[in-house]
Order: sequence, then C-alpha cells, then structure tokens
Amino acid sequence: MTFIYAIANQKGGVGKTTTAVNLTAYLAAMGKRVLLVDMDAQANASSSMGIDKAALETSSYDVLLGNVTAAKATLMNEKHKLFIIPSSPGLAAAEIELVGEMAREYRLRQALTTEAEKYDYILIDCPPSLGLLTVNALTAATGGVLIPVQCEYLALEGLTQLTRTVQLVKQRLNPQLSVSGLILTMYDSRTALSQQVAAEVVKFFGEQVFTTRVPRNVRLSEAPSYGQPILTYAPSSPGGAAYKALAAELVARSEGTSPNA
Ligand SMILES: Nc1ncnc2c1ncn2[C@@H]1O[C@H](COP(=O)(O)OP(=O)(O)O)[C@@H](O)[C@H]1O
Ligand SMILES: [Mg+2]
Repeated sequence: MTFIYAIANQKGGVGKTTTAVNLTAYLAAMGKRVLLVDMDAQANASSSMGIDKAALETSSYDVLLGNVTAAKATLMNEKHKLFIIPSSPGLAAAEIELVGEMAREYRLRQALTTEAEKYDYILIDCPPSLGLLTVNALTAATGGVLIPVQCEYLALEGLTQLTRTVQLVKQRLNPQLSVSGLILTMYDSRTALSQQVAAEVVKFFGEQVFTTRVPRNVRLSEAPSYGQPILTYAPSSPGGAAYKALAAELVARSEGTSPNA
C-alpha cells in the first residue's frame, strides 16, 4: 500500500516545502521508502535536499511533458536513503505547454502508477497556486491532501477556496481525494495571535488538524541553505522534534497504528 499525499496551499510561505522536505526525511529515517516529488518551479524542495538545480538533466517538468519516465527522473539521496524527483525553473512553462493536451490533469498520476509499488509514501510539494500543477498533484494524491496553515493573521482566508478545489478535483478527477489533515506551522505558543489562529483552525476543522504543531524555529529556516533537512542539520532543535513527531503522527494516521508504539 502506497500513500500519496499532496502538500498544498495556494498561499506562499506557509511551510509547504519545509513540511514536504522534513516529513520525507523523517519518514525515511523510520525505515519507510519515500519519494518526494517537487512540483514547484522554484525548486525549493530540491535545493533544500542539496540538489544542484543547474546540473539537472531531467526534472518533474520532463515527467509531466512525457519526455521521460518518473523512474528516469528520480534521484537517490544516499545519505538520507530517500528518493526525489527534482524540479527546475522550466516547470513554470508546463502549465501553458499542457493546455490543449489530452488528459492534462492526469499527467502526474499516470507517471506515478509505475512507481507506487516501489514506495510506502510519495509526498508532492505543490506550488503556491491552484493551477494545473497543483491539480495534477491533487489528482495523483490517493492518500489525500495535507494543508500546512501558518499560525498568522488571515490564516483561514483562502482555505475555503482550497477546500472547494479539493471537492471539485474529487468530483471530477480523483474520487479518492480528501483533506487528510491540516498542519499548524510557525506556531508560537507565546503569542496570543498564534493561539487564537490555532484555536480557530481546530474549531473549523476538528480532528483533521494534526495534534503536532510545528513551532516557529530559526533552525528550520537555516537548514535549506545547507541543503539539509532538519534531521541532520539540527535534529534536537524544537523544529526537528516537531517534524519527527509529525512524521510519526502521519504514519499512525495512514497505517492506523499508535504514534507512540
Ligand atoms: N516552522 C518554521 N519556523 C521558522 N521558519 C520557517 C518555518 N517553516 C518555514 N519557515 C521558513 O518560512 C519560509 C517559507 O516556508 P516554505 O516552507 O518555503 O513555504 P511554502 O513552501 O509554503 O512557500 C522559508 O524561508 C522557510 O525556511
Ligand atoms: Mg514551497
């Protein structure tokens, strides 16, 4: 059984990439076979994993366009024992190049069908929009969508639009799609605002919200510039502890086991 999750929110800077990269690393550390798919032309997930964008021969762009198989575009990260389909700036053009193509929303799903049995988890890092790239990710996401929510003013704004998109994709393209969880990010327990936002999100979404809250932690923002997940950059930081706990919670939710087992 492979769990494919899209990590999506059309707002930028809410922690999608940080969550995708660090969940991938901790899932791999738990012994899971994990593939991270970078679907953002900014390729932040790829560089956060230490991949040199300039040296790439193939990327998620080529996979979407059907130039290469997903297997061919997959790189192995030896150190972390994980796999990644990196992105490249050219991906920005894919939205336009795919217009008029048959079954353009299914490109990623189709490309991943041959890959699914190789992995326990596939995480897809989405761009900050609800365009064709995100729709491709949602269509491929048999496990559902994970929504990072930044604990800041106006956090809930946009979530209605996002959940509506999820509903549309579910109706038309991927009947298995659901919101598997909301992840509170950049949480600061010392500020009233963070607490209010968290309370409001929980009030709205109830048990869909992950118990683990990711704190605002400077270590998490430093790690990408060293091309490392927090797991190796600062494992004992609050951010490291949070993503470790979040990975355990995701496994528990996906596989139906206790997170403390
Ligand atoms: N919990 C956190 N604490 C501190 N900084 C964070 C945290 N999560 C993300 N960041 C930083 O905030 C910025 C936006 O995060 P990112 O994951 O790139 O968001 P998105 O992918 O949604 O645009 C990045 O500079 C990242 O390093
Ligand atoms: Mg991002």
